[in-house]
Amino acid sequence: MKLTIARVDLARRRVFLRADLNTPLDHGAVSDDTRLRAVVPTIQYALNAGAAVVLASHLGRPKGKPAPEFSLRPIAERLESLLGQQLELAPDCVGPETLAKAKSLAPGQLLLLENLRFHKEEEANDDGFARSLAELADCYVDDAFAAAHRAHASIAAITKHLQPAAAGLLMEQELTALGRILESPEKPLVAILGGAKVSDKITLVEHLLEKVDALLIGGGMAFTFLRSLGHDVGRSLVESDQLDTARRTLDAARRRGVNLVLPVDAVVADGLDSRQGRTVGIREIPSGQMGLDIGPHTVERFTAALGGARTIVWNGPMGVFEQPAFAAGTLALARAVAGASAFTVIGGGDTVAAVTQAGVAQKIGYISTAGGAFLEFLEGRKLPGVEALTDAT
Ligand code: 3PG
Ligand code: MG
Repeated sequence: MKLTIARVDLARRRVFLRADLNTPLDHGAVSDDTRLRAVVPTIQYALNAGAAVVLASHLGRPKGKPAPEFSLRPIAERLESLLGQQLELAPDCVGPETLAKAKSLAPGQLLLLENLRFHKEEEANDDGFARSLAELADCYVDDAFAAAHRAHASIAAITKHLQPAAAGLLMEQELTALGRILESPEKPLVAILGGAKVSDKITLVEHLLEKVDALLIGGGMAFTFLRSLGHDVGRSLVESDQLDTARRTLDAARRRGVNLVLPVDAVVADGLDSRQGRTVGIREIPSGQMGLDIGPHTVERFTAALGGARTIVWNGPMGVFEQPAFAAGTLALARAVAGASAFTVIGGGDTVAAVTQAGVAQKIGYISTAGGAFLEFLEGRKLPGVEALTDAT
């Protein structure tokens, strides 16, 4: 158990709150504020508890030097309106000016630091830089679950200089929801994996095989599995260096009695730019074409496999769902997951976009704000951002 914010006395203290405010921007404006909304309860909780909050995040990958297009200015503006409270953006995340601003904060006031990744020391987990960040406050709260897989200075090294280090409300929520998948999930547990590559997901597949009752595989990665079984998949995406791994995984599933379900039909077309596809049986993919979505029979089989589930976890689209011609499978699966009488957890940007597009986000049990960290957590890996937190006694 890690220390949580509720157990820290915040009155008249300055809190360094590490959040993941890394949101997509479109022409310099926030285009999706999900991650900003997700951290609002923690900010408000700390301010109401009488703390002054020094809020910090990275944005994008500016490669260790200042770059105006990665400024947190648009984030500051959106947060101000979400909080209904004024918020100052510091000129930097360290340095004398920022330190003075942090020190002059009164209880209930909030200062947002400029992008942590404007300094290469952040990603290097540099100890001196971490100490400079630590000087800005007198306790630490981490709400950045989506960045918890990064051993960066504001996530890991800082906790050597700033104690206690507690989980924020969002961090706690994420760990509880995702923990319900790995630790004594209500059975049957069904996992659905999609996305392009087997190589990205193989560690996850191997770890999940020890936990799940059924594993449904769609998306581009399904074709490597199908190919490993000897199917002719035309020009569909196949990672030839993963064929052995795929075969071994199918064997392991059989030995463990896991019901591993692969597509039985696909929507095929000449290429990613095709306007229209055609549904064929999985053994009938024309040699010049590629599978770009799961077909209706696969949707039926997947839906049936979700029928008795008590816990469902889903990551990765079933096809190229950004294109209307290849979206039907992913959207139908989103509706099936939402309609299941199970505790459902989803994560990853594409998967969240799919349930949103299908209009069923409200019916999902828990939507993680994380992508990479979500996958690493489910792989059973220890996340630096969680390990660094103070143990609760
Ligand atoms: C993310 O969106 O994946 C997190 O904010 C971490 O960002 P990164 O992948 O650039 O480290
Ligand atoms: Mg990432």
